[in-house]
Formats: sequence, structure tokens, C-alpha cells
Amino acid sequence: MKKDLLRILDLTDRDILALLSSGAAWKRRAGRKNAPRPLAGKTLGMIFQKASTRTRVSFEVGMTRLGGHAVFMSPEDTQIGRGEPIRDTGRVLSRYADAVMIRTFAHSVAEELAASSTVPVINGLTDDHHPCQILADLMTAAERGKNPRKMRVAFIGDGNNVANSWVEAAHVLGFPLRVACPKGYEPAAAVRMEAHRLTGCRGDVRIVRDPAEAARDADVLYTDVWTSMGQETERRRRLAAFKGYRIDADLLAAAAGDAIVMHCLPAHRGEEITDEVIEGPHSAVFDEAENRLHVQMAILEKLVRH
Ligand code: CP
Ligand code: NVA
Repeated sequence: MKKDLLRILDLTDRDILALLSSGAAWKRRAGRKNAPRPLAGKTLGMIFQKASTRTRVSFEVGMTRLGGHAVFMSPEDTQIGRGEPIRDTGRVLSRYADAVMIRTFAHSVAEELAASSTVPVINGLTDDHHPCQILADLMTAAERGKNPRKMRVAFIGDGNNVANSWVEAAHVLGFPLRVACPKGYEPAAAVRMEAHRLTGCRGDVRIVRDPAEAARDADVLYTDVWTSMGQETERRRRLAAFKGYRIDADLLAAAAGDAIVMHCLPAHRGEEITDEVIEGPHSAVFDEAENRLHVQMAILEKLVRH
């Protein structure tokens, strides 16, 4: 594996499948007294420039379970918020920590941190990518019996960071992906082109306008919020644009009979997904949230030098 995990394209198909099986092994070992602690004495620095529940807690708990420790940093109580260059932060944190996780706005900030750090840098969400989320999603689909190389995935809604990472995963693993979104809200063209180029055109990714067309016979129905962090001023416009791009019982009926429904959370029930579906028998959302912990333990174990 590469030194850093900034996007799904940093991984090969073999890397992804190995992380999924290692994540499943960590899940099986959870709660065992004699579970291995391969990162004893190691520290993860965690920079959060956006809010988080799952990412923060799952990385912190994961480091503890691996025998290590995590340090939480926010802009308000570090020099990052007072304008210290991210490259200086990267150089300094590399002298203390064994890996750094960052959640930030521009993806270029995570890239600059990685370039200036001698330790691995993990992307815990940027405006453009959310690789750890998609690895947890793939692990969840696999444990529900879906084949990560063949399953039919329908992403309904905004072509945001999470959608971009699904596009990359579809190209790396080769499964068919349909993204249903309104015009102007497609996954990033640059991501689509780069994924296409770097994977030798593997993948069958199509953008459609009709959610029912995307959902037809899908094994996985996926959605995310219509207004991501940092886009709050666009909320009214987005509410209007995404009307009809909701996972509800009718859309679920178009999918395969044993389809699972996923959402990275936090959800806005009644907007991109109905309460009935998220609480219904096809929903895998809380397993998906749990699997963040297990798959990130696999990532940390793999990236942090022993
Ligand atoms: N899914 C996810 O990344 O959740 P948080 O924003 O709570 O970390
Ligand atoms: N697309 C969402 C994901 C949150 C986990 C956001 O960026 O806010």
C-alpha cells in the first residue's frame, strides 16, 4: 500500500479486498481479552476542521483497541486556526505521532499535509473524498452477502465527496455503479476521468437523472445528505434541486428483493431518505457506522510502521 490513504484511487483492488478481510477479522476479535495490540506505544494525531461523531470516535477507539493512543486537534485550540501553514504542522506532527488523520475542506490541504509529513496521512473526509467511509460501506455490503466486484450499486442524490469515492471504488473493483442526480450535481468530472484513466477504463459508471432507473435491480441503494458540511448557505437551493431524489419505499421496491440500504450518516430523515426506510428491514446503516471502527483498525494496522 502507498504511504498515505487520501482517496480510494490510492488503493489497488487487492489492497481493498485485504482491508475488508482484515476489518472483518478485527470485528470478530472485538471484545476478546487476548486480542492483539500491534500499535502499542503508537500515536495517531487527528486534525478536525469540520464536525464529526463517527470518524472521531471510531478512530480514537480503534487506536485504543490496537494498543495505541489518539490525540484530537481542532482549529480553535491549535495553531492551525491561527494560520500556521499546514506543511509546518505536518513536519512537526511527524516528529511526535506515528500517523495523522485529517478532516478538512479543500482536498489540497490533505495532499499538502501528506506531502510534508514523513508519517502516513489518512483522509477522514475532505470536500472531494471520503475513502474510509466507502471502505466501511464495502465491508458492510460484503458481510451482507454482496460481492464487492459484482454488486449493482445505485447512489441517489448529491454527487458529493461520498459519491466521488463510490465512483473511484467502482473503477478499482469493477462493479456497476449508477448515480442518479439532478443536472449540475454530478460527481466531479475530474474524479471520473482520473478513475477511468488510472484503472485502465475498468468500471461501468453511469450518471442518470431518474432515481428509479438507477435503483432498478440494485443490490445496494445508497444516499447521503443533500447539503454537505461547508455548503450550508446553499441549503434552500439544494432542497429544491433534490426534490424527488429520496430513498423511500417506492424506490426500494424497484431494487433487488434482498437489496440493502446504506447511508454514511448523519441523515436528514424526510429529505434524502425516509424514516420508514432507514428504520426498515433493508437498512444496514448502523452496521455501516460500526464497520468504520473495524475497517479503520485494518487501515491503521497496515499503514503505521511497526
Ligand atoms: N459518516 C461520517 O463520516 O460521520 P461523521 O461526520 O460523524 O464522522
Ligand atoms: N457529504 C457529507 C458526509 C458527512 C459524513 C458531508 O461532507 O457533510
